[in-house]
Amino acid sequence: MANVHGAKAHEGAEPTRRDVIYVATVATGVVGAAAVAWPVVDQMNPAASVLALASIEVDVGSVEPGQQITVKWRGKPVFIRRRTAEEIAAARATPVADLPDRVARNENLPADAPADDVNRSLGGREEWLVMLGVCTHLGCVPLGEAGDFGGWFCPCHGSHYDTAGRIRKGPAPRNLDVPPAIFVSDTVIKLG
Ligand code: FES
Repeated sequence: MANVHGAKAHEGAEPTRRDVIYVATVATGVVGAAAVAWPVVDQMNPAASVLALASIEVDVGSVEPGQQITVKWRGKPVFIRRRTAEEIAAARATPVADLPDRVARNENLPADAPADDVNRSLGGREEWLVMLGVCTHLGCVPLGEAGDFGGWFCPCHGSHYDTAGRIRKGPAPRNLDVPPAIFVSDTVIKLG
């Protein structure tokens, strides 16, 4: 997989960029393969070198609207998507009352924050979604730009997420989790 974005670890060993950053925008098929190939055991028992990466910074300056990158953080894939205006509008058109899971699941907000679109985006910057790429059913990696709601689709058992990463249909019980994340500059996101 190609690598186009820089990242650095705050602590721990010295990961190569290849270890940290995966680019999904050019390779939906690669992400698709990961949906079945990412073993749960790897998420539960990440290597010590991965655990050491408590915090990483990701430069998203070259991510265009409609593109997503996937980075590896604490042994799990994290989706960073720059949404299009259409994707934002679709998410905002959905009343929270219509959602199977009405809680934002955003670690940067109070635990009971509602799952409206603003609360799902990063720091109120509506274009940006940062979410664990781990289906909340049994842990597969969902596919991007797929499913009945144009967001993510988990092929393992058929869970459909919308363009805010909220579960809309299928067995997954919760919205995709938003990890601790913040913009530390105009273009750099700090995870963890
Ligand atoms: Fe995603 Fe079962 S793991 S639907």
